[in-house]
Amino acid sequence: ADFETILTETRGAVAIITLNRPKALNALNSVVMTELTAALSAYDKDESVAVVVLTGSEKAFAAGADIKEMQSLDFVDAYLGDFISGWDAVASFRKPLIAAVSGFALGGGCELAMMCDFIIASDTAKFGQPEITLGVIPGMGGSQRLTRAVGKAKAMDMVLTGRMMDAAESERAGLVSRVVEAEKLMDEALAAAVKIAAFPRAATLMAKEAVNRSFEATLSEGLRFERRVFQSLFATADQKEGMAAFVEKRKPAFSNR
Ligand code: HXC
Repeated sequence: ADFETILTETRGAVAIITLNRPKALNALNSVVMTELTAALSAYDKDESVAVVVLTGSEKAFAAGADIKEMQSLDFVDAYLGDFISGWDAVASFRKPLIAAVSGFALGGGCELAMMCDFIIASDTAKFGQPEITLGVIPGMGGSQRLTRAVGKAKAMDMVLTGRMMDAAESERAGLVSRVVEAEKLMDEALAAAVKIAAFPRAATLMAKEAVNRSFEATLSEGLRFERRVFQSLFATADQKEGMAAFVEKRKPAFSNR
């Protein structure tokens, strides 16, 4: 499909979505939201796609929601239009989704990265929730997902002061899973994606679902969910193959069944 604000590409079982509004530092307007969620929805249905990598440019993953687009909204417009809720589709995407972040990931850009399953950052990455400087607060999950990712102290600091964290601080805080040199960002993200794509499809989706369950459930309910999903994987051919291959000291040949 042809999009105006994103580029899409598939390499084997890995799809790459690149935010592409360079003149606005990939500010997230309603067209980006519509196009990105349409691309994800197509990848969800496309059996040839196992994993998606979401990235931006070297200078900016995304510098936030588009301030020029939202500046004149009033409350009733925002409320009746359920402003911003369309982004929920990113968080509910079922396949593994990796954010490869270089440069600015601010406001909605930081929140979009946090909707992904994990973030690989370049050493140039800067994360922040500067909404307070505009007279608003995070609206795409920042107050909730950042707090879960880095804890109350740092989340409050970020949300109340609007300051940015560099890549090293973001990694220390647990917001990003790895930091790599800027030139190696896509190689690292794609290598992770290729690795995941080689594992049994059902297990990768269930692994994601189980980890995400921890944010919604009590510990005992989360553990019960995990155990039942774990048990259910013994109904798959790939569990038999994976364990047989280990015992026979050979590489598994998974069938995604
Ligand atoms: C619209 C944006 C934008 C944004 C940058 N641009 N961020 N346009 N919305 N969020 C545009 C600028 O207006 C400018 O366009 C061009 O991109 C380049 O930006 P500069 O500011 O000239 O670049 P630079 O000096 O390098 O500064 C980079 C920056 C700064 C520090 C990232 O652009 C910045 O502070 N941006 C806003 C960050 C922010 O507050 N994000 C939170 C948004 S609120 P022109 O046409 O002038 O060249 C949010 C809420 C989410 O995300 C919750 C849901 C509502």
